[in-house]
Amino acid sequence: MAEQRAYGGYYQVSEAREDPELTHVGRGTPCGEYMRRYWQPVAMTAELGELPLLVRILGETLVLFRDGRGKLGLLHRHCAHRGASLEYGIVAERGIICCYHGWHYDIDGTLLQAGSEPADSPLCKRVTQGAYPVHEHRGIVFAYLGPPAAKPAFPVYDTELMADTQRKPFSLTTPCNWLQVYENTQDPIHVLHLHARSSGVQFGAASGVDQVLDYADTPLGMINVQTRHIGTRLWTRTTESMLPNLNQTGAIWEEAEAVKYFQRCAMLRWMVPLDNTTTRTIGWRFFSARLDPHGRDDPTRVGKESIDFVGQTADERAYAERQRQPGDFEAQVSQRPIAIHALEHRATSDTGVARLRRRLRNSIRAVANGEPAPQPDHFGLEAVSTYCQDTVCEWRGAAPPDQSIMREHGQRIAEAVLGSSHLPPAEREAQIRSVCDDAAGGDPSTG
Ligand code: FES
Ligand SMILES: [Fe+2]
Repeated sequence: MAEQRAYGGYYQVSEAREDPELTHVGRGTPCGEYMRRYWQPVAMTAELGELPLLVRILGETLVLFRDGRGKLGLLHRHCAHRGASLEYGIVAERGIICCYHGWHYDIDGTLLQAGSEPADSPLCKRVTQGAYPVHEHRGIVFAYLGPPAAKPAFPVYDTELMADTQRKPFSLTTPCNWLQVYENTQDPIHVLHLHARSSGVQFGAASGVDQVLDYADTPLGMINVQTRHIGTRLWTRTTESMLPNLNQTGAIWEEAEAVKYFQRCAMLRWMVPLDNTTTRTIGWRFFSARLDPHGRDDPTRVGKESIDFVGQTADERAYAERQRQPGDFEAQVSQRPIAIHALEHRATSDTGVARLRRRLRNSIRAVANGEPAPQPDHFGLEAVSTYCQDTVCEWRGAAPPDQSIMREHGQRIAEAVLGSSHLPPAEREAQIRSVCDDAAGGDPSTG
């Protein structure tokens, strides 16, 4: 008998499961091992007081503390003696002392003194507590959980060095798999639907204008290229994903009111898997007059589990309000604890999501095959070149630009953004400006 389609819920049952290669992050899993080849944020400095802090990352539970010398330690939770948690440990001048029988560990896991055993006990040579290297940077504590021999240099990104810009660390916890939080940033069509049509305009009104979309690879990931016609201007935004889990996003309230070239991002953030079904986004929110000329940003609302735009947590709004005007949190969490790709019906608008998953899978498999994980490139510059930006040009054509003109314009901007990565920021800006001078409103057949 032919399967009934209308009212066919009875037939639509499935045993399909999530894709573990992309979504499982524990020790020994392909994605978990790949993620362990990069520095990952584990906490904000502001969370760290005089007591040890229990942290989760990549399915591991660890204890982070700052000893009396001011040095940070990140140790396995369970004491190597008989397993008591070091979250109850006594922070010492040097390292931490387990509460139960006084075993004393240095920040690198060295057993300094095995409690009441003799000071020269062979235990100190034989036993080591699991420990990971940490690096504190601009109010965020990063850790490296991979094999020591593969530890990369700690990367600093060009957008951290923006002039006249304040940076504020923040974190947001989302109870679902990391990939659905991460791939949201390569799903630009949701900005139009979720953040403008479904819920009313949640960000800048210009972001609710229909866009021409394109995508391009970067050395370590990809950008999506969004081009919109706003008033008399063309606005091209490139939103960046740097694998494995870094994202940069442009100004939250961008209205494309003024001509600008290579305006950088409002957020640099990592979507960190705490385990397979919990994600903590940690990063910096950037504030400047250039990014926010109308003063709509609110740094006072940015911090632990809080940010200054709607729809990122469950706690900020009542359930009925979240139903009426859902945001990213509601959309992502409701895709299931771990989204099941085999049940999706992907469309042309999912090009970015599909591309991101493909790049991620290739990278995971390369590391699983023993290749070194590719690391960000400084091109000999002060910081790692990145590719998130907004450019707004005056459109001087007699008629409104059609889709193909907008696509071509977006591609030219993207090529200039990608092709200038070896140059300092001012020269990159000049290159992008010259593309605009050549292209916007000009006759494409003569351009
Ligand atoms: S369990 Fe930690 S010292 Fe005994
Ligand atoms: Fe969103």
